[in-house]
Amino acid sequence: MKERKLSDLDLLPDETVKKLEEKGIVTVEDFIYADPKYLSEVTGMSERDVEDIQEELRNIDVEFETLEKLERKRRRITTGSSALDEILGGGVPCGELTEFAGPFGSGKSQIVFQLCVNVQLPEEEGGLESKAIFIDTEGTVSPGRIKGMAEALGLDPGEALRNVFVTQVRSVEEQMRAAEEAHKLCEREDIGLVVIDSLTAHFRAEYSKLGDVSERQARLMKHVDQLRNLAMDHDVAVVFTNQVHVDIEAATKGKGRRYEPVGGTIVAHQATHRIMLRRAKGEVRIARIIDSPYLPQREAAFRITEEGIRDVEFPER
Ligand code: GTP
Ligand code: MG
Repeated sequence: MKERKLSDLDLLPDETVKKLEEKGIVTVEDFIYADPKYLSEVTGMSERDVEDIQEELRNIDVEFETLEKLERKRRRITTGSSALDEILGGGVPCGELTEFAGPFGSGKSQIVFQLCVNVQLPEEEGGLESKAIFIDTEGTVSPGRIKGMAEALGLDPGEALRNVFVTQVRSVEEQMRAAEEAHKLCEREDIGLVVIDSLTAHFRAEYSKLGDVSERQARLMKHVDQLRNLAMDHDVAVVFTNQVHVDIEAATKGKGRRYEPVGGTIVAHQATHRIMLRRAKGEVRIARIIDSPYLPQREAAFRITEEGIRDVEFPER
């Protein structure tokens, strides 16, 4: 639930809110859980009045709404492939985290480039008519490619580039600061999508020794928390890519070469929806949902074409 500030409510006079803020009582929760006697001293109100207000605030604290309303509220961005949208439940969701993992060349970056363009489309075409933030950790973001994808959809290419805010980060530290800055940008601009390509590259490089693993995981967890808050506070889709490594356990058990996303269980549990990509023939790629609270484990095929992400066209029978 979003943090509510006392100053956002009409319940208390501005002057009283100011007095409370000076004592560090800023949110509704701060007020509800504070000692009434103390609040009475700070505000000059009677304890009785303070308790009444606390009671009132507790009552508006929890609101129920129907699942149907929740479903309708969930905004989504099309990937460009209706088959891929379908297994995602209608596109990439706002308010949640989505992870695309896969080996090099599997299409992770192409998908996030396409989303940066598609988020700009009008709603009836699968977009949100809003802008994107792109946190590039690998130096691979391509204005030329994004322009081409925009042109293919009839968007003005110059305008399309102006609607994507890019930052290139060179370390874990910078990446975490970028996520903080993204919060501020979401307040100023109409953002619908935040991309991190890739989530784990810097973490992997900076904490490569075996002894660093627990520290790496702790920071990665903190970073993923930042991203989750970003998604929830601003109702934006947060999409990140992830590299994979060979699952040693499966290999040693004779189950053959299997890939596993980097970051282990921390990323797995935090990522709302985890999609694994793999190459098929030519420009075809296969996406498979491997972890999600509500999406079934299904596969979809899509293509990476000159125009961008598209459906596979099956020959008519
Ligand atoms: P890494 O970042 O290296 O781990 O890979 P990735 O999963 O991000 O790969 P990416 O999304 O960059 O996909 C690369 C593939 O997309 C290439 O092998 C090409 O098949 C395809 N591709 C990239 N750019 C173009 C383009 O401009 N036109 C066409 N037709 N295909 C492209
Ligand atoms: Mg890439």
